[in-house]
Amino acid sequence: MLRFETAGESHGECLVATVSGLPAGIPISVDAVNRELWRRQQGYGRGGRMKIETDRAEIVAGVRHSRTIGSPVAIIVRNKDWENWTDVLPVEDLDGAEDKRKPVTRPRPGHADLAGAIKYNFHDARYILERASARETTARVAVGAMAKALLSEFGIQVLSHVIAVGSVRLDRAATWDELIALSRRDDVLLGCVEPAVEARMKDVVDEVYRTGDTVGGVFEVVARGVPPGLGSHTTWDARLDGRIAQAIVSIQAVKGVEVGFAAEGAASFGSKVQDSIHYDREGQRFTRGANRAGGIEGGMSNGQDILVRGLLKPISTLRRPLESVDLATREPALAAYERSDVAVVPAAGVIGEAMVAIVLAQAFLDKFGGDSVGETRRNYDGYLEQVKSF
Ligand SMILES: Cc1cc2nc3c(=O)[nH]c(=O)nc-3n(C[C@H](O)[C@H](O)[C@H](O)COP(=O)(O)O)c2cc1C
Repeated sequence: MLRFETAGESHGECLVATVSGLPAGIPISVDAVNRELWRRQQGYGRGGRMKIETDRAEIVAGVRHSRTIGSPVAIIVRNKDWENWTDVLPVEDLDGAEDKRKPVTRPRPGHADLAGAIKYNFHDARYILERASARETTARVAVGAMAKALLSEFGIQVLSHVIAVGSVRLDRAATWDELIALSRRDDVLLGCVEPAVEARMKDVVDEVYRTGDTVGGVFEVVARGVPPGLGSHTTWDARLDGRIAQAIVSIQAVKGVEVGFAAEGAASFGSKVQDSIHYDREGQRFTRGANRAGGIEGGMSNGQDILVRGLLKPISTLRRPLESVDLATREPALAAYERSDVAVVPAAGVIGEAMVAIVLAQAFLDKFGGDSVGETRRNYDGYLEQVKSF
């Protein structure tokens, strides 16, 4: 079973991830992991933090001579800003530490501050926001890079793009080649495949910069090369759509998920929504009239591209703060402001890729198993033969 955990605070020493259950023999490139971390930091609308940090993964266990060895993989990403926070968030409570804290007593509406402070019984939301912050997803993206390395051994790739920023929306499908080109860009604006639409998205971000506001949007993750049969209709928790939905909504600020054309489908008719089934005799394979289902039917991949969308609410830290209450005095107060992003849709797309890759890698290993990649490949090839001769 492929499992992972992450630890680390936004301004702590480092972020940590451990991954167990990867078969031995998967080629791992630290540069490829770092490229994913870099992609997560990009996009127009990010705060100053992204400019001072260039994340680098240190793989400290489980990979030797550029391949996994079957034991748990451990990854560290150091926070470059830690040197400015050693007195604020020390591990040991030293004399005078109280004066060096940076308490957050005016919870931000929409953030974890208030619910977390009540739950963990802190009258300062600092410890809550340190972990609720999407900085945590740095560790997930590093794990996602491991999952991508496994999947690419079997011809499966996962990419993303931005469909909407605020009310500006791309109104056509993106081609796979466009997604590849996007993922190779060294200057990321808003991650949209259509330059004219991307320019209008930038106008929206400029507007929120001007007004002290923030904006959300929609990203789409596409997985190509997924065989039919990952996930299962047999139990609720084996369903691939349910597993992907949980993974996507677990990303900070993602409030909704769509598998395929869900919202459009709900407003349409069965005759227009379901993807007709055909058979190509020459190629000896089933084909489909469209892919509105987003590559999943009955909780199982059906062999088409998997299409998943994440709907992001606007960032909850506003330069023009919202109404709140001071936790100490209970008096009305404006919410706390700390250097913050104003728009993060392309970065959320990269995190979405990581989460989809992790779920697909889990479902892939559930089905094909294997302690070494060669064993996984034998099992996979046998299944592909079965599918071919079905
Ligand atoms: C890539 C990314 C970066 C984010 N950066 C910030 C930020 O700088 N400031 C902020 O207040 N929220 C930021 N958020 C959103 C918060 O983490 C989110 O609003 C918070 O977790 C509460 O939302 P939730 O209810 O979905 O967890 C970011 C989210 C993502 C995905």
